[in-house]
Amino acid sequence: MAKYKIAWLPGDGIGSDVLDASRIVLERLKLDAEYIPGDIGWECWRTGGDAFPQRTIELLKTVDAALFGAITSKPVKVAEAELIPELQGKGLVYRSPIVRMRQLFDLYICQRPCKAYPGNPLNYKEGIDLVVFRENTEDLYAGVEFRPVPTELGALLGNLSKPFAPFKDLPGEEYAISCKVNTRHGSRRILKAAFDFARQNGRKRVTVVHKANVVRATDGLFLETAQEVAREYPDVTWDEANIDAMCMWLLKNPFNYDVLVAPNLYGDIISDLCAQMVGGLGFGCSGNIGDRLAVYEPSHGSAPKYAGMYKVNPIATILSVKMMLDWLGEKDKGVALEKAVAEVIREGKVRTYDMGGTSSTLEMGQAIADRI
Ligand code: IPM
Ligand code: MG
Repeated sequence: MAKYKIAWLPGDGIGSDVLDASRIVLERLKLDAEYIPGDIGWECWRTGGDAFPQRTIELLKTVDAALFGAITSKPVKVAEAELIPELQGKGLVYRSPIVRMRQLFDLYICQRPCKAYPGNPLNYKEGIDLVVFRENTEDLYAGVEFRPVPTELGALLGNLSKPFAPFKDLPGEEYAISCKVNTRHGSRRILKAAFDFARQNGRKRVTVVHKANVVRATDGLFLETAQEVAREYPDVTWDEANIDAMCMWLLKNPFNYDVLVAPNLYGDIISDLCAQMVGGLGFGCSGNIGDRLAVYEPSHGSAPKYAGMYKVNPIATILSVKMMLDWLGEKDKGVALEKAVAEVIREGKVRTYDMGGTSSTLEMGQAIADRI
């Protein structure tokens, strides 16, 4: 029996392309693993009404880790229109399967390292090395949303909240409410993950990202919790900043920052910004990490127009594999893989189209495997 069971979830769009490239690398590393394919994504939605079918949920309960490609997400109405005729009009509502997966399996840490590998022609500046810790289960992603707004909810809010007055007499169809739900527990554990990481890796600073000056209840709780957590880590330097200012400062001087930690939506936004500074989404790797299961994925989307063309850059996925190896405890393999990626980038002979080259997804995978 293999040492590890890994769920293999290509999803849709370019998901298969990038996972195929990763497989070349994993085979070369001789990871003692069984890869078990699972269905997820747009086809599951279209033909079965559920983008994250129960059989895949069951599979995830049995594995050590999962590698996930990409999935297409579309607005609710567009998604409904694409269902097969038999499923239309049944009130099925599309929800992003990756968001559901993070919540269902309590993958509360989203870790997104963004490192400028020397020689990458897409680096915004050489030497950038940031790690984003994004809370992954709550906040505006909680899924508590109302459209139309039920009359009783409008009335209740009218009674409870003064600032709600301008909205309280609107007909339900004329407005919508998405709840931002943040807990002390959820905030605390992502903050601790960031501080632990900084301590264990000798990182120079943790920056807590929020908007507590305006979003006072939820972000106020996040910031207050950060102050508490920081007291438990007197050896770790930390500061805090508003998300808007943070975007500006990060571009202005990325070297002032190191580990960033944020509630879910700000973390989503800032991780794309950081990824762009080190070459774009072709380099943005990501881990969704819980206490028992971790799911690794590139942070790019499914880019349907490139699906099956083996054109896109698989490095984001291959670096996600590196994170998975570390998490499984296969540190040596992780180090060897990252070294191989760095070498291919430094040499600059094999480059996918985003890097200005003509190499295919699989050629990139092969080039990295050859340097292991
Ligand atoms: C990400 C993506 C997802 C998110 C989408 C695809 C639902 O942008 O992983 O950053 O918003 O979390
Ligand atoms: Mg995102």
